[in-house]
Amino acid sequence: MMNRERVPGVPERALAGSMRDFRVPRGASLLARCEAFHDWQSVRRRSGTWPFARATEAGPAASCTIRDDEGTLFQGVNFASQDYLSLSSHPEVRRAAKAAIDEMGVHSAGSPALVGNTSTSVALEREIADFLAMRESLLFPTGWAAGFGVIKGLVRSHDYVVIDGLAHACLQAGAQAATPNVIPFRHLNVDHCRQRLATIRARDTEAGIMIVTEGLFSMDSDTPDLAAFQSLAREYGATLVVDVAHDLGALGPGGTGHIGLQDMLGEVDLVMGSFSKTFASNGGFVAMKNRAIKEYLRFYSSTCTFSNALSPAQIATVRQALAIVQSPEGAARRERLMANVCLLRENIRARGMEVYGDPSAIVAVRTGDEALARLAAREMPGLGLLANLVEYPAVAKGRARFRLQVMADHREAEIEAAADRMQMAMSRARDHLETARAVAG
Ligand SMILES: Cc1ncc(COP(=O)(O)O)c(C=O)c1O
Repeated sequence: MMNRERVPGVPERALAGSMRDFRVPRGASLLARCEAFHDWQSVRRRSGTWPFARATEAGPAASCTIRDDEGTLFQGVNFASQDYLSLSSHPEVRRAAKAAIDEMGVHSAGSPALVGNTSTSVALEREIADFLAMRESLLFPTGWAAGFGVIKGLVRSHDYVVIDGLAHACLQAGAQAATPNVIPFRHLNVDHCRQRLATIRARDTEAGIMIVTEGLFSMDSDTPDLAAFQSLAREYGATLVVDVAHDLGALGPGGTGHIGLQDMLGEVDLVMGSFSKTFASNGGFVAMKNRAIKEYLRFYSSTCTFSNALSPAQIATVRQALAIVQSPEGAARRERLMANVCLLRENIRARGMEVYGDPSAIVAVRTGDEALARLAAREMPGLGLLANLVEYPAVAKGRARFRLQVMADHREAEIEAAADRMQMAMSRARDHLETARAVAG
């Protein structure tokens, strides 16, 4: 039955099912039980409906050559990279990284709890804290490690994490690892969060509570009312954490993201972020209001304590990117980015497709049905469009979408081409499904 082909060349198995089906594989051999997922993945790969784990040939340019995970090359406009201000190719950023290698070598060679920091990473911690009007900040090897580590480092098993249902995987994983008391609230919903807090406090006045949300949600491009969440935290004796991975640097006055846009600089209890989007590097941070919190996290957040510090080239890249973000050039790049975002959203809508959320570098185009989305993804290499298909586990089943990520260096022609090609891919996918339905009678 599952080998049947509704669409020629695409077995039904490639259109049905999801990665969720393999979350809890059966069998006593931890290794042998990987096979079932690989079989299903191979069916999708062979039918062109597995658009993951691809590589750019020479870095994340606005148009580039891409190799899929079978080694096949294609060329196209690139809307799948997170280099929002196009700083990864900025000459000053590249120069700073090279100079750091010449001066300090390529390796930190230690944990930040021992001797992994350098004069430059200590300086970056100061710069991040100042940028966010916080007293201190602590660096982590990745944004994932910072999100996981801030929760696991502070929350204990008798405490509670009250978390937006759509918060990023690193935050969900940190919460699950820290406590069995993980209580989701409806996406962005302040009233629902309040109900959750009231229920907890009615029976437990002693436990700590961490409220977790994001400055800009990475799949829906929407934003909570940060002042309302911070005042809820105060009212219920809780601590607010805001993940600013996608908005910091790319949005807001001076690049301060939604915290700056909402006039909340220095007001949020804990700010966590990543350098892997706007800041052209790897790495993450947590910014806090005093040294005690920083020192506690440095020694009790295992993703910081037991992992080597960022390398000198990564630090130099982020510092140079941060200097540009805060400069008039940074403001001009943000303006170009936002003009590109608005143009892409208009073009997508004008072609009858729906986009999620508010204008940001993330332009998510609704497909819903996974079969439709996978068939559209199959068309894209031929049309010359690189865009990320998002399906479970990144979003819930039945809520698939394409996430287009815009860069300051995209040109108008590339944006129009992306919208045209997206429309063409979706229309061919729909035709396939309609023909299949007609044949089935
Ligand atoms: C909201 C959010 N938080 C954290 C992360 C993790 O950041 P990094 O890629 O630096 O590990 C990401 C990146 O995928 C993200 O989207």
